Amino acid sequence: MKVRKIRIDFSNAKVLWAPDAPEFAQFWNATSSLLPYLEPFLNRTVRACMEALPAESEELRRDCKIFIAQESNHYRNHACFNEVLRAGGYPELEARELKLKADYEAYWKQKSQSYCLRYAEGFETTAPILSCFFLEGAREMRNPSIDDPTVDLWRWHLCEEYEHRHVCFHLHEALHKSYWLRLWGLCYASKHMLTYMIGTARYLIREDRKAGRIPDPWRSRLRFASVMLRTFAYTIPRLIRAAAPGYDPVNLSPPAGYRAVLDDAERLWGVEPDAVTTKA
Ligand SMILES: [Fe+2]
Ligand SMILES: [Fe+2]
Repeated sequence: MKVRKIRIDFSNAKVLWAPDAPEFAQFWNATSSLLPYLEPFLNRTVRACMEALPAESEELRRDCKIFIAQESNHYRNHACFNEVLRAGGYPELEARELKLKADYEAYWKQKSQSYCLRYAEGFETTAPILSCFFLEGAREMRNPSIDDPTVDLWRWHLCEEYEHRHVCFHLHEALHKSYWLRLWGLCYASKHMLTYMIGTARYLIREDRKAGRIPDPWRSRLRFASVMLRTFAYTIPRLIRAAAPGYDPVNLSPPAGYRAVLDDAERLWGVEPDAVTTKA
C-alpha cells in the first residue's frame, strides 16, 4: 500500500469518453460527481475511527493514513473531471450534488460513528467488485478506440480501491463488530449511492438526447438497460459472497492488470515521488 501523487490533465477529456457506449460513460460520470462528497465523508469517518483505535493497532492506523491520502487524491482528480462534465451542459447537476452534500453533512452530524463506519464499509465492500467489473467484466472497456484521461482516472482509482479494500472492514472489526449491522450498512449505503448514481446517469443521458449528443432515444434506452443489467449481474453474486460469514476483503483476488495499471498511472500522471510506503 502506498500513496501516489497523481494529477490527471483533463484539458482534452471528453464527457462521452466511450464513443460507442455513451450510456456507460454517463453512468461512471454520475458516479464521479458523487465522489467529491462521498470520499471526504469516508475520510472524516476513518480519521475519527483511527483515533479511537487502541495503541497497539499501529499497522491499521498506518493503513488508515494511507487510505485517507489515497481517497483525497481520488476526489481531487474527480473534482477536476467534474468541471469538464458540468461545462458539458447539465444544469440540474449542481442541485443534485447539493442534495448529496446535505445528506453527508446530516449523516455526520446526526448519526453515530458506527453508522458512518458501516456506510463507509458498505461502499468499500462494493468498490473492489466494481474495480474487477471495470477492468475485467465491462465489455465497453475492451473497445480499442477508448483512449481518454478519464479512463486512466477510473483505472487508477479503482485499483487503489482494491489496494485499500481492508481498511474500513478491519476498523469495523476492531471497533464496532457486528455481522448483522455490517450487512445493514451495506444495504443503506448501496441504496443511497445507487439512487443517486442511477438517477443522475438517467438525467445526464436525457440531456444528451435533448441536445442531440446521443441520437436514437430507443437504442439509447436499450444500451442503458444493458449497462445496468450487466453491472448488476456482475456485482450482485459477488456482494452476496461478501455478505457471507468469514468474509475478509484481504482474501479477494486483484483485478486483471492491477500492478500495471498502478505503475502506468504513476508513469503517466505522477507528480511527486512516493511519500509513504508500507507492505501490501
Ligand atoms: Fe476512492
Ligand atoms: Fe476507498
